Amino acid sequence: MDKIKFGIFGLGRGSGFYDGVAANNGEVVAVCDFDEEKLKKAKAEHEGVTTYTDFDEFINHEGLEAVFLCNYFHEHTPYAIKALEKNIHVLSECTSNISMGEGVQLVRACEKSKAYYMIAENYPFMKFNQEMRKVYRSGVLGKALFCEGEYNHPIISQKEIAHYCPTSKHWRYHIPRIYYITHSLGPLMYITGAFPKRVTAMPVFGPLNAENGGGDLYWRLPDRSAVVTILNDDDSVFRVTGWSHFGGHANTYRVCGELGQIENLRAEDGKVLLSFNAEHTPEGMERVSSYEADFEPDAKEAAEKAGHGGGDFFIVREFFNAIRENRKPIFDEYFATTMASVAILGHRSALEYGKPYDIPDFRKEEDRLLYENDFLTPCYHSDGSAPTIVNTERAEYVPTEETMKAYDEAVAAYKASVTEE
Ligand SMILES: NC(=O)c1ccc[n+]([C@@H]2O[C@H](COP(=O)([O-])OP(=O)(O)OC[C@H]3O[C@@H](n4cnc5c(N)ncnc54)[C@H](O)[C@@H]3O)[C@@H](O)[C@H]2O)c1
Repeated sequence: MDKIKFGIFGLGRGSGFYDGVAANNGEVVAVCDFDEEKLKKAKAEHEGVTTYTDFDEFINHEGLEAVFLCNYFHEHTPYAIKALEKNIHVLSECTSNISMGEGVQLVRACEKSKAYYMIAENYPFMKFNQEMRKVYRSGVLGKALFCEGEYNHPIISQKEIAHYCPTSKHWRYHIPRIYYITHSLGPLMYITGAFPKRVTAMPVFGPLNAENGGGDLYWRLPDRSAVVTILNDDDSVFRVTGWSHFGGHANTYRVCGELGQIENLRAEDGKVLLSFNAEHTPEGMERVSSYEADFEPDAKEAAEKAGHGGGDFFIVREFFNAIRENRKPIFDEYFATTMASVAILGHRSALEYGKPYDIPDFRKEEDRLLYENDFLTPCYHSDGSAPTIVNTERAEYVPTEETMKAYDEAVAAYKASVTEE
């Protein structure tokens, strides 16, 4: 089996994938970032890797078969399309598209290309989510009726904020929390196979400031999360959150079926709770049981070394398997753009106090036509363009030149204070 020649675009998150690629019989042959320091480090640590600052040169690297897009959250689509046009397979970090129009462009490019596209949604592959899928698909729970997914990842330390959001024009400063929806929604779609059809959302309001846990550096937007209700194509309902900022980091999921339910336990890494009503307890099973989920034996060692509870290993494995087996990956362009539509239209719903929005089916041309010219974005883009949709419904918190300048000054002051120490 030949090694897949792989390139990584963006060396923040992207710099953690060399081992996962090697473990799946791939080879990182090229990397690209416009940060020369990151390239120097890559060259020093990984013999033989070619470095680029320009994406167009990078995808022309001889023999390059597949790329991992780990650049800015809101700028994946144009690069995915460029790679697909050259029949280079694309693994893309979330989100697949920052606007509805980009979602349409992406599915059209995928359909024209000979290469495959996969969204690198890793949370479904955490061991408890893989176990929930196995149990759900065994049929003991009956059909899914109601499911919950919560992604609560507060970033609080001043060091982390200065690192992850270095300027007031960075995407992390501007994205509504609901835009980061894949880690709560993706696992539920993976477990049950349900696809969202309609969304309504409410923001969870709670502005940070210097006194309530924000410190000098804090996100300007007041939303701590968004609570998103989704009606699916199988009539089940999901309740999920966007990227949340509550006390007590946790990622939790729950699948309630007609006959029983399964969930992972907060603060109990890897443990699941499976329960039935007495009448529906399958023969040989306990009515209520909790147990440790585990990885399949042949993947265990590599998964345990990988980031995000093993998820980072499995996304590369699934992507490479799809390329080798000449099939679409499990999280293809329709899976990806459906999640993005939930985020984008969910945000519009939250701006309108919960007005429901239908989720388009981008397999259908008539649904694409509804959105092909809709490029509203909440972010500043690298070409200098400014947001075209507000990122919070509380007008007094919409970032202004003044608040952005204050943030930049606070980051500079923080960095200077650290250098002085
Ligand atoms: N799935 C997960 O668990 C997970 C975890 C962290 C981040 N992410 C995702 O990964 C992506 C990257 O995250 P990050 O934290 O590294 O983001 P970041 O904004 O901190 O870093 C992006 C990197 O890409 C480089 N870059 C951006 N545009 C470029 C261009 N046009 N040419 C060359 N280099 C360019 C930047 O210099 C930087 O090194 C995001 O989409 C994020 O949502 C996913």
